[in-house]
Amino acid sequence: MQVIIARSVAEVAVLGAAHCQRLIAQKPHAVLGLATGSTPVALYQQLIKLHRQAGLSFKQCRSFNLDEYIGLAPEHPQSYRYFMQSHLFEHIDIKQRHTYVPDGLMAASAAAANYEQLIQRAGGIDLQILGVGRNGHIGFNEPSSSLVSRTRIKTLTCATIADNQRFFKPGEFQPSLAITMGIGTILQAQKILLLATGATKAKAVKDLIEGPLSASCPASALQMHANSIIIIDTEAAADLQHTEYYQQVKTETELLENIND
Ligand code: GLP
Repeated sequence: MQVIIARSVAEVAVLGAAHCQRLIAQKPHAVLGLATGSTPVALYQQLIKLHRQAGLSFKQCRSFNLDEYIGLAPEHPQSYRYFMQSHLFEHIDIKQRHTYVPDGLMAASAAAANYEQLIQRAGGIDLQILGVGRNGHIGFNEPSSSLVSRTRIKTLTCATIADNQRFFKPGEFQPSLAITMGIGTILQAQKILLLATGATKAKAVKDLIEGPLSASCPASALQMHANSIIIIDTEAAADLQHTEYYQQVKTETELLENIND
């Protein structure tokens, strides 16, 4: 794993977006794996900026999101489809029919098998963006998820339900089930970019980078991937013990070098 410690949330977004930009320059019909949650919001804003100001075009790209709540319609404001529309898709030139989010209303097993087939038919994912839950989950692969799992329905842990409660109004129905790409599905991406920012992610970041490979920390599965990059800010890096092994962005010049390398 390449671990990059950036100085701020903004730098994490700039570096993450630079990887996307470079991929699309090399492969305009790239297949992007996308994530929801608050972490990738700054990355999506940076991609929108690059689209508007630097001509970054997603016209030929396809995208596959990691997960969706079971029981929420696409137009529900808390659905991940709605999130992607409002935070990214409506602001760039990706074709709506080329954006895929698992179907939270379709019969569960049919939706899961269908999603795996769609990814395969698109030629697989070139670059998978990931956030990480405080308990180390990726997508909605909660602790104890099989490290070779495929797209399926997962029951959310109480911790994840509590963490995501902030997005729902008091008394509003909050799903406890989700459909998610499996860890095995995620590991098939050509390249993986995991972003984490803020002190609340420090433990998960330590466990995923320096802990053992374990289903107790699903994100540690990235240790088995040949091309994964972990971009974190200093707060999320706070618990790491072996900072001498990692690349620390200390100056603006280093940030630019990282983008160009
Ligand atoms: C959700 C999503 C994950 C995301 C996680 C962390 O549970 N399913 O894909 O990584 O939340 O979200 P945040 O970035 O808001 O901390």
